[in-house]
Amino acid sequence: MAHHPHLELLDGRYRLGEVIARGNFGTVHAGEDIALGRSVAVKLVRDSPDGRVSERVFREARAAAQTQHPAVVTVFAHGSVPELGVSYVVMERLYGEDLAQRLGREGRLSVDATRQVGLDVADLLACVHLAGVVHRDIKPANIYLGRRGRGTEEVRVLDFGIAKKEEYSTLTEPGEVLGSFGYMAPEQLLGEEADARCDVFGLGAVLYECLAGRPAYPQTHLPTLLSTMLAGPPAGLAAQCPELPASLHAAVERALSADPGARFASGAELRDALAAAAGVP
Ligand SMILES: Nc1ncnc2c1ncn2[C@@H]1O[C@H](COP(=O)(O)OP(=O)(O)O)[C@@H](O)[C@H]1O
Ligand SMILES: [Mg+2]
Repeated sequence: MAHHPHLELLDGRYRLGEVIARGNFGTVHAGEDIALGRSVAVKLVRDSPDGRVSERVFREARAAAQTQHPAVVTVFAHGSVPELGVSYVVMERLYGEDLAQRLGREGRLSVDATRQVGLDVADLLACVHLAGVVHRDIKPANIYLGRRGRGTEEVRVLDFGIAKKEEYSTLTEPGEVLGSFGYMAPEQLLGEEADARCDVFGLGAVLYECLAGRPAYPQTHLPTLLSTMLAGPPAGLAAQCPELPASLHAAVERALSADPGARFASGAELRDALAAAAGVP
């Protein structure tokens, strides 16, 4: 595909290179901005005939670009190549691995590393929630652990592809479910309107998995998954992670409440709870 004439240079300046990762919707390629001579990443998504996919890519680029936060990926450009039926987002190239890859290699994270991921993601969520945006697809593959300098790691939240701003409620049909089931709040699985508390649930499921070394909700059969979620946070976290401070355990459980009203109301509340839990034995 990289040799196709229409893909030689996107937007007149971005050269497409090899595939570096595949996601649910798109493929992410290495690339180069030939005007500035820097490496970039390019996400390509195949368009749908109804134009909704390219609309989603456009919104993804805008949602990320309008979020001023250190945990968001910088977006440089987006567009479509109608001849090829693809839309693209050009963004800053990250080096490291996503949290799904990390958990695949290492099984779990330490309590401190988990808390740091939680604080960083929750702070980003606080920022997007304040702007009236819900990410809706918080899961390990959408959290990137980037390397910066020697030994330091920075957390980035990827993939605003199905993020939703309150005023654009027409892009997903009522009842349409997009995202990864095991990290989606039960009300989201039921096709109800997703609000900030869905992201709180998603991050709760991620933190559970980091600490326990296994997914909070591994069920793949949808009705079973839903009834498990509705029964409340899975038991056994304390047994899987005996060194877990009670305050952090309580925060994860509250984030995973079946009733959205019992969760933290937004990323800001979850972040504050994680910050308050820091260092408490
Ligand atoms: N800017 C980037 N630099 C390096 N790798 C990236 C970048 N963006 C995404 N990735 C990798 O590509 C994967 C898929 O990207 P994502 O935006 O989540 O696409 P999808 O919408 O298809 O899920 C991510 O899980 C991550 O591993
Ligand atoms: Mg993704």
